[in-house]
Formats: sequence, structure tokens, C-alpha cells
Amino acid sequence: MLTWNDAEVRAAFPALALRDDGLPRLYADAPGGTQVAGQCLDRMRQAMVEQCANEGGLFLTTQRTSDWMLVAHQAAADFLNCDQDEVIFGLNTTSLLFHFSHMLSRDWQPGDEIVLSRMDHDANVGPWIIAAEERGVTVRWLDVDPQTFQYRYDTLDTLIGPRTRLVACNHASNFLGTISDVGRIVAAGRAVGAVTVVDAVQSAPHFPIDVRAIDCDILVSSPYKYFGPHAGLLYVRQDLDRRLKPLKIRPASDTMPYRHAPGTPSFEAQLGTYGAFEHLGWLGDRFGAPTGDSLRARMVAGFAAATAHETKLALCFMEGLAAIPEIRLYGISDPTQVHLRVPTFSMTVAGHSVEAVTRVFAAQNIYVWDGSFYAYELAGLLGLREQGVVRIGFAHYNTLDEVETILEVLRGVVRTP
Ligand SMILES: Cc1ncc(COP(=O)(O)O)c(C=O)c1O
Repeated sequence: MLTWNDAEVRAAFPALALRDDGLPRLYADAPGGTQVAGQCLDRMRQAMVEQCANEGGLFLTTQRTSDWMLVAHQAAADFLNCDQDEVIFGLNTTSLLFHFSHMLSRDWQPGDEIVLSRMDHDANVGPWIIAAEERGVTVRWLDVDPQTFQYRYDTLDTLIGPRTRLVACNHASNFLGTISDVGRIVAAGRAVGAVTVVDAVQSAPHFPIDVRAIDCDILVSSPYKYFGPHAGLLYVRQDLDRRLKPLKIRPASDTMPYRHAPGTPSFEAQLGTYGAFEHLGWLGDRFGAPTGDSLRARMVAGFAAATAHETKLALCFMEGLAAIPEIRLYGISDPTQVHLRVPTFSMTVAGHSVEAVTRVFAAQNIYVWDGSFYAYELAGLLGLREQGVVRIGFAHYNTLDEVETILEVLRGVVRTP
């Protein structure tokens, strides 16, 4: 086990070495999508050059596709801590949730209720609202405290009751960075027999996901947010899945992994995602202390090393932001609570539009986003739907020097009239 080595970690990401007109790239756009690990690219090339064929035939390339498809599903199960038959690869999180909202709402009755959250990305809100409208089901809202940037857990008892069919919430916010106590929300939903759905798109890049510990029925994430390709990954608890009628064409298979795959899957995205998991395992081997040889143990160790590094970045950034009074941070700012957030920071800068700030960054080849990132309810609650925020987010390939560079740019912005 080595101490963290920025240069070695960064060398694992080919895109980090690129320059434009001599300028290096500073990627602070991780919450929108991370850069891709070299191991992901290698696996995608394997899928598209060495074994490009559909699955299920008798010749070499198709047989390789079948074999590697299973490898990718097993690795995804290791990533989530579930069984291979509980894993579904799809186009992205949003389309997977639309697909499942259709199946899950088939037996909802008028007068039933669902609980959605005001902190979620709309991918875990909109599909459920549409299904509720179609079935005459009432939507109830789990609110966010705008002072603490946490869910109003104290309202769970009154929100969730015998008519609740579904409870959906996020694991980490793509806007605030807040990490939620999902176990508490899921337990409240399961206590009344509701289906529980967790959006882990923004937590999965930063710490290990354990669906058994969370105890949810469905959990979604997007591999392009954790060093892999554009794809979606959904966990569905086996006993719930057995009760669902798959949304499939007649000749298609009724068994996993095809049960919820409408058409030919992206084999290259599955293998690319496997490559992203290999990257996390490699991080564990190099900079962590795996408790065993399994891919999960190695990934968990990789995350432990990455989280320690990201915490340093977050603390440095939080300290720097606190010293710039013109900046208003929407999210946890107390360094003693850094463990309650991921390194995703949304802010406004007094006297400057978010677009103007983002432009200053872009001119220096520093990639940060402005907008409200489909956190539609939350942006409304905070009065930021029109104005938006500047969002700066880090992944384990970022460095303390990069954080300092970003702070220097922000100090320059506030000095400019
Ligand atoms: C928290 C969260 N959920 C869902 C999504 C949507 O994911 P996808 O683009 O895979 O549909 C995003 C995308 O930014 C997100 O940040």
C-alpha cells in the first residue's frame, strides 16, 4: 500500500493529459460526468474490436460477448453488493426510472399515495409524477430544510402511511452535495410495505454502495459519473422483481439479464463499466488496504483511499470559500460536517451572474457548470430556478493545486467590479 500519489492516479485517466493551445485542462465538472478511466477505454475497445457481435450465438465473438456480459454483471453486483440477477444495465438513470415507473405503477389505485423528495434530480421525481397522474395517485413531498440543507426527517412519520405505495429519495444531492440518511427513509417506507427507490447517481462516485445495508428495493446510478461510459445501472431486489410483469416484446427472454432490456444492450457500455470497476479495484490495490482479494473488497479499499483524498480537497475548498464573503454557498459549509457531504459545491457570487463567473473559468480552460441541474424542486425551493448557481465538483483525480487555482479565480472574480 502506497500513500496517495496524484501523478499516478492522474496517469490512469488519458483525458487529464490533454492541453488546448498550451493550456492544461482543469476538470471541476465531476458531478455532471467524470473523466473516463483508461481501463474503461481498454474494455470498450475489447468489446468493439475483439468481440463485436451480439450475445447468444455459437461462434467465437458472440461467445466472448456472452462470457464478458456475465463478467460485467457480476462486477456490477460486487459494486452494489447484491446478486448478479438483481442488476440491470440501461441507457441512463432517467430512462431506467421511466421503465420501472411504468411497471411499478400498474396496480396503483386512486387514493394511493407516493412520497417524493424535494432534493432529488428530476429523474427520480418526474417519472413518478407522470405515473401518479395516470393512476389518480396523490404525491406527498419530503421537504428540505433550507438552513441545514438536510431532509426534514422529522416529517417522515406523518408523510408515510398505510396508503403509501412508493418512497423515492436520493443518496447524495447533485446540487447541495448533502449525503442523506437513506437508511432511515427506506426503513420508514418499508415499514408500511412501500417500494423504496434510491437515486445513488451522486454518491456512487464517492463511496461504496451497499444495497443490502440500505435495504432499498431499487437503486440507480450512472457509470459515466464514476469513471465509466454513458450508461445507467439499476439494482432491483429479487423478491420485488418476481412480482413485476416485465415490459418486453413477446419473443424476448423473461430471465435476467434480458428481462428488462428492451432490445440489444450496449455490450461496450457494460464492459466499459467493468473497466471503471477495475479502476476502483486498482486504486484499492495501490493506495488502500483491501481486506480480501474479491473485486468488492478491492473497490471498497479504493474508495476509502479516494474518500480520504477528496475530504482533503473539500476541506481546502470550504476553508477558501469561507474567506470570500461575496460567495454564498448552498450546502453544508461547516468543516466538522464534511463527512455529511460529497465534494459538490453550488454557489452564487454577489454582483456577478452565474454565467459570467462560468465564462471566466472557461476562458482559463477550467470546466465548471452553471444552471440548476434538473434539481427542479430544490432550485424552486431555494428561489434559484431562474438564476441558477455555479457548480464546482471534484473527483479523486483532482488535486489540492487545482482547488487553489479555482479559489484564486474566484478571488479574482470578486475583485472585478
Ligand atoms: C442525482 C442525479 N440523478 C439522476 C441523474 C440523471 O442521470 P442520467 O443522465 O443517467 O439519466 C443525474 C444526472 O446528472 C443526477 O445527478
